[in-house]
Amino acid sequence: MPLKLTVNNVAATVDVSPDMPLLWVLRDVLNLKGSKYGCGIGVCGACTVLVGGHAVRSCMTKAGAVGSQPVTTIEGLSPDGLHPVQVAWEALDVPQCGYCQAGQIMSAAALLQRTPHPTDAEIDNAMSGNLCRCGTYTRIRQAIHEAAQAGAAAPNK
Ligand code: FES
Ligand code: FES
Repeated sequence: MPLKLTVNNVAATVDVSPDMPLLWVLRDVLNLKGSKYGCGIGVCGACTVLVGGHAVRSCMTKAGAVGSQPVTTIEGLSPDGLHPVQVAWEALDVPQCGYCQAGQIMSAAALLQRTPHPTDAEIDNAMSGNLCRCGTYTRIRQAIHEAAQAGAAAPNK
């Protein structure tokens, strides 16, 4: 039975099994390739997207479990790539290879939604599930502080 999803503010009907991981739907059905496949078992965070405003592992989220909750991917975080988290990421040259970074940015955006001015400890705790083989953690933390200063808690800036 077709599933109705709302992804990046666009309604989509997808003809997939409700057991299919959301990441598969996003990448292979809706052609949104920004969310990455890393481990496939919920431990790396490369596939992180927002569902109902919360950061989730899309590799571990069944498409049929999403229901009416809006899904936001890196492609939909802002209309112009100028969400304060994205601006701070660019200003501080956070990425190296970039593979983990969409997931990092989505987790950071979710953190700042619920904690507009996080401490280092709150950042480390919130981001601990997003792994980076390139070791960009120090710049990630700096960029989150910079985004907080810029008011990243305002939605879809
Ligand atoms: S690919 Fe989903 S947590 Fe690693
Ligand atoms: S920037 Fe390379 S894995 Fe994070």
